[in-house]
Amino acid sequence: VPDGSDAGGTTAAAGARVVRAVLLAHPAGHSLSPVMHDAAFAASGILGRYQAWDVPPAALAGAVARLRDDERLWGANVTVPHKEAVAALVDECTPLALRLGAVNTLLKRGGRLVGDNTDVEGFARAMAELELDLRAARAVVLGAGGAARAVVAALQDAGAHVAVANRTRERAVRLAAALASGGRVEVLHAGAVAEAVRGAALLVNTTSVGMQGGPTGSPLPEGVLPREGAVVDLVYRPRRTPLVERAAAAGLIVQDGIAMLVHQGARAFERWTGHPAPVTVMRAAVERELEP
Ligand SMILES: NC(=O)c1ccc[n+]([C@@H]2O[C@H](COP(=O)([O-])OP(=O)(O)OC[C@H]3O[C@@H](n4cnc5c(N)ncnc54)[C@H](OP(=O)(O)O)[C@@H]3O)[C@@H](O)[C@H]2O)c1
Repeated sequence: VPDGSDAGGTTAAAGARVVRAVLLAHPAGHSLSPVMHDAAFAASGILGRYQAWDVPPAALAGAVARLRDDERLWGANVTVPHKEAVAALVDECTPLALRLGAVNTLLKRGGRLVGDNTDVEGFARAMAELELDLRAARAVVLGAGGAARAVVAALQDAGAHVAVANRTRERAVRLAAALASGGRVEVLHAGAVAEAVRGAALLVNTTSVGMQGGPTGSPLPEGVLPREGAVVDLVYRPRRTPLVERAAAAGLIVQDGIAMLVHQGARAFERWTGHPAPVTVMRAAVERELEP
């Protein structure tokens, strides 16, 4: 964990306040958040500095304590593998973070460290870009990890009928139980996935299948896609996964993982700084970084 100095970042004029935020991750090397947030600070005329900290699980409590005690640090993002563990280390969680059992953003409010979650809003805003009417629409979510929880919560809030399919079915059952207060979540048996997907207006892949360096293959039975509607893949590296390619070739509306990534980051930026986030600039910074 670096010492939080300004080396390599925006240099503050003497006495000026610098917004410092960090990412708690392990590993942290490939994160797009530093370029995205540094671009946002620059475009907003804010002296800011965003650093990725590689924090192994055993060091998480120490990193959170440092964040709480160091007045120069304004907030943090939290990602794999810390989103659940960090909830027990903060002074309070927002109702949304409690509902999800996952924290992806840390804020300081009156000296207290607050755990929040911007993934739900991030996904909701990404959906708004597609201009789909999700009220009473059938949505199938592949996966039941942390990302799936945020996606399911956003879909519940939008009024969709949500069904979840996961390789490990028990994990999907736990997700449905944990989020039951937001509405019924159907858990699909393996044999029912194909038909549910064909009839869905929205299919969202939240598994890591297709991710560079991750599991290969398809998160779906061979050849299965919605008959009409949209396919969203949360994976953004590569930008176009085999699933997105296949869906686009079939004439479906598609979206890659960049939209959610940018919008969850934009909400975090706004929470830390109180400034509207320059979403277009943030997206361009991410896209530049992902260019081959
Ligand atoms: N765009 C964004 O803003 C954004 C935000 C968050 C996450 N993501 C992406 O979403 C993905 C999941 O993140 P997460 O935090 O939810 O991870 P996670 O909690 O580790 O969950 C991983 C999910 O992938 C499934 N999976 C893994 N390997 C599989 C395989 N070979 N076949 C079928 N299913 C498999 C797991 O199923 P089991 O339960 O059976 O293991 C589980 O449902 C990652 O690629 C991440 O980069 C993107």
